[in-house]
Amino acid sequence: MSKKLVTSALPYANGALHLGHLAGAYLPADIYVRYLRLRGEDVVWVCGSDEHGAAITIRAKKEGITPQDIIEKYHALNKNTFEQFGISFDMYHRTSAEIHHETAREFFTKLYERGDQFIEKTNEQYYDAEYNQFLADRFIKGICPTCGYEEAYGDQCENCGSTLSPEELIEPVSTLSGNKPEKKETTHWYFDLKKHEKWLKEWIENGTLDGEPHHDPKAWKNHVVGQCKSWLDAEEGLLPRAITRDLDWGIKVPLPQADGKVLYVWFDAPIGYISATKAWAEQNGKNWEDYWKGDDAELIHFIGKDNIVFHCIIFPAMLKAYGDFKLPTNVPANQFLNFEGDKFSKSRGWGIEQHEYLEEFKDFPNKEDALRYALTRNMPENRDADFKWDEFVEFHDKELVGNLGNYLNRILVLTHKYFDGKVPASDVDLTEKYADILHLTASLAKRIELFDFKQAVNRLMEISSWGNTYLQDVSPWKIYKENPDSEEIAECMYVSLQVVTLLSALCAPFIPFTSEKIRNLLNLPALQNGDLNDILENLGAGKPLIDAGHSVNKPELLFAQINDRKDDSRKQIIERQKEKLVAILAQKAAEEAAKFKPVKPEISFEDFTKLDIRTGKITAAEPIKKADKLLKLTVDLGGQTRTVVSGIALQFKPEEVVGQQVAVLLNLAPRKMRGVLSEGMILMAENKEGKLSFVQSDEGFGEGLEVR
Ligand code: 2FM
Ligand code: ZN
Repeated sequence: MSKKLVTSALPYANGALHLGHLAGAYLPADIYVRYLRLRGEDVVWVCGSDEHGAAITIRAKKEGITPQDIIEKYHALNKNTFEQFGISFDMYHRTSAEIHHETAREFFTKLYERGDQFIEKTNEQYYDAEYNQFLADRFIKGICPTCGYEEAYGDQCENCGSTLSPEELIEPVSTLSGNKPEKKETTHWYFDLKKHEKWLKEWIENGTLDGEPHHDPKAWKNHVVGQCKSWLDAEEGLLPRAITRDLDWGIKVPLPQADGKVLYVWFDAPIGYISATKAWAEQNGKNWEDYWKGDDAELIHFIGKDNIVFHCIIFPAMLKAYGDFKLPTNVPANQFLNFEGDKFSKSRGWGIEQHEYLEEFKDFPNKEDALRYALTRNMPENRDADFKWDEFVEFHDKELVGNLGNYLNRILVLTHKYFDGKVPASDVDLTEKYADILHLTASLAKRIELFDFKQAVNRLMEISSWGNTYLQDVSPWKIYKENPDSEEIAECMYVSLQVVTLLSALCAPFIPFTSEKIRNLLNLPALQNGDLNDILENLGAGKPLIDAGHSVNKPELLFAQINDRKDDSRKQIIERQKEKLVAILAQKAAEEAAKFKPVKPEISFEDFTKLDIRTGKITAAEPIKKADKLLKLTVDLGGQTRTVVSGIALQFKPEEVVGQQVAVLLNLAPRKMRGVLSEGMILMAENKEGKLSFVQSDEGFGEGLEVR
């Protein structure tokens, strides 16, 4: 049997994680791994805190605390929050651990000693003299050369996503002091990616490695392959990447001449997957190398789309350069999840963090699965998705309550009513009854294997719908009225109890807490690794999944309706979330309004009513001699015409303005300009560049109408 090593991106331990993170790299991996375990696969899933990098040191500096304080706080928070959501890592490690430092140093040393992998370069880099600090990554900000965004960082523009180097920023400033940076010489080591370009191209495009088939390139998501190709096909190809930094927080570069330098966070972080596996193996009496280097080892990285290049190009190149590591067979990266139509933003308070959700929903029954379900239904698998509270309510009430919860409840109630809580005996042909759900179950399994969790969870609900429809079609309560001893009632309940037993297992990867509850209600043992194989085998063979005579427990609700007329407490929780968003939008609008400064002193309403402004249409226009800015206009005001001299000649030719709808101030005292009497004024708007535009009503609206 193959050994599968599954990884999820190591989140930075410098902040809480929001729902987009959960939906991106953790929930999909959890579904996948829970499924593999149920299939009896030898799988290990590792993750942990990414505890290095500039963002952590910057935050520490700003808050006047140490980086250690920050990572302790967020490592604990994130680890604990994941646990509460049932995110079932085999190991949640951290990159500050000694075993990781050792592993990363050894990795660097091995590549360094090969002699052909690194380039040592000394050049001038931005430097903040006030802070004695070289400015790379997040220490430097400026204008993005690609999109013009003013807050782009030295490593990436968060607006357009392009990867940057500090030298590319326009008008760079230090994020530490806010000063314009100086330049100073420093030495760094660069990973020579050019050497890996050729095989990477073949590996990504054809799925071949060293001339042998490695993976099916069509099994990779289009957007993942697309992003890799755009890197590999770039005109300049793959450039050497600096893998060291001048910083005092991180893993010391293991070279005598590299005092004061650490490994770049993106060099050590993916090695964190290896050290996490080592830590897991140590605790479980296993050999980590079996999972990374064994002939039957398979590596799968779950990440968000912003991490694709690191996992599909740079880390594979590092692994290959090191030698004898297996490369990933798939990197099912997700796209982004937005929140109510906009990006998650901590500074704006837009979105909800995982731990915040748990607090806000603390009295909400089965809150963890309610969220897991909503995020799976709308997972950003191939394109960005948008989380909406209204959709959350709909998925919950219609599908979890209305379909699955309701179904289980009806079956348990009826089993108690007709058979004293025992699975009745029946000699019905299960093969025939299983036909539809067998097909749906196979499809569910296939979809999970293809990383298509959205479709997989739909299959789950289709099986539940099948059960509901079957129950409704037979309607045992009707038969009972006529003939309470009818075989048909036993048959229907027997079949239905098989279906709910199947659901108890199939739902486990998606909504594990619910699965456990269903198993308890059915009085069945907790699921063990490999159990799904037996279930699928029995299903295929038309055998029962739960035996006649087995006693089930009394029903209890799995989920409680949000839109419940008798109890609005759950609805209120949702309303509270929406109100927070309304408040943020209102505040934003108020801030925008405050920025809009009046350019003239205030006037009274009476002052304003003194203006006689009318709609009109220009019927004739001619230049005025020796006045290159002025046009003499004839304006039709519906019933009368007036002559108006207007200073628009630099931008409009006479023939362009004839026929224009305009607004005219009529009761302006007439005045003579260059010998022409002007009897009013045309209203124009002017933009920042000094361009003019007519203020006008719709064509055909009418002339001489009052503007108020
Ligand atoms: O983008 C991030 O949050 C990184 N901390 C992910 C690291 S993934 C891996 F390489 F460790
Ligand atoms: Zn940009």
